[in-house]
Amino acid sequence: MTKRLLSVLLPLGVASLAQAQSMNAAPAAAPAAAAPAAGETPVGPVQPPDPAAVVRGQVNYQRYCQACHGAWGDGRGDSYNWLEIKPRDFTKGIFKFRSTPSGTLPVDSDLAFTIAHGLYGSGMPRWSGLSYDTQVDDLVAYVESFSPLFSTQGRGIPISIPPEPPNTPESIAAGGKLYTQMGCFNCHGPDGRGNGPSAPTLVDDWGQPDAPLNFTGGHFKAGEENWQIYKDFMTGLNGSPMPSFGDTLTPAQAWDLVHFVRSLVNPKANWEQEPSVAQYEAAAKDGKNGAGLVLPQSPSSAQ
Ligand code: HEC
Ligand code: HEC
Repeated sequence: MTKRLLSVLLPLGVASLAQAQSMNAAPAAAPAAAAPAAGETPVGPVQPPDPAAVVRGQVNYQRYCQACHGAWGDGRGDSYNWLEIKPRDFTKGIFKFRSTPSGTLPVDSDLAFTIAHGLYGSGMPRWSGLSYDTQVDDLVAYVESFSPLFSTQGRGIPISIPPEPPNTPESIAAGGKLYTQMGCFNCHGPDGRGNGPSAPTLVDDWGQPDAPLNFTGGHFKAGEENWQIYKDFMTGLNGSPMPSFGDTLTPAQAWDLVHFVRSLVNPKANWEQEPSVAQYEAAAKDGKNGAGLVLPQSPSSAQ
């Protein structure tokens, strides 16, 4: 993990708010959290994967994941050579798509959402047919078992995301200025096509080329909702050149940027509505698996 990622700290107000929220959610766990040294991002208590879930997760991992991610979780499965975007190496404990600050480990729900939702435009499929409550949770435990970090380090504390203000022309204009000031255009390009001057030089922590997202296509790997775009650049994508802006942007500025990024989407892009997080969770609560989800734009598929 790079120093760049580790040295980033959330603004104090936001970090302590997030911490307070997570302590509300899990009061028993809070006292075990180690006091962070000055300049270190605070983390929660160590939560190793549940050994029984790891054992249960292995069967489905071998069936569905091993061909890409490899028997040892190093990303070197049989498909490695044939995939343009390489499967994640789980042994390093570095995950791009998280709700937790830059340089920290993800929480289980981050990995569960990635598995159920997939990563659009990469080879990582959407496993929406697996049951969210059992099979996906067991796969999360199995994935985590490949890295010793989950047994020795606390998880990151999810950042707090304030409610989204209205998407107005003023907000989009303010976001456009920030897009220039923060240097987003260097990688994503002035009109968001992913063709900024730095784009051809970018590589990830595993030495693979890592192209900046082309915003005009209207698809985001980590989810299509505005709060998910917010979290992507406020936490940064660990292991990727995509930095965290959690220490430089206020929440109001971050929402302006989300609105600007959205405004770059080509309205003619072939944009298909994906199921929302709320829909995944509702399906899990009903005891239905993801295959039972009804897509917002296809009401005729409702059972
Ligand atoms: C066809 C190949 C393929 C299969 C099968 C596959 N994956 Fe992936 N997976 C990928 C690729 C490629 C990436 C990296 C995508 C990227 O970085 O954009 C990835 C990334 C991931 C990540 C990392 C996300 C992050 O935040 O960094 C997780 C977790 C993951 N896969 C879990 C699974 C699980 C669990 C299964 C089986 C249910 C699975 N994958 C099956 C190709 C695959
Ligand atoms: C140093 C280059 C660089 C800079 C600067 C940069 N990005 Fe990125 N960004 C990337 C790369 C590379 C990716 C793709 C990472 C991947 O999927 O592996 C990315 C991906 C993203 C994503 C997509 C996440 C998803 O779910 O697919 C968003 C949103 C984003 N960047 C927003 C921003 C914003 C807003 C700024 C400025 C505040 C910014 N980026 C600055 C390199 C950069």
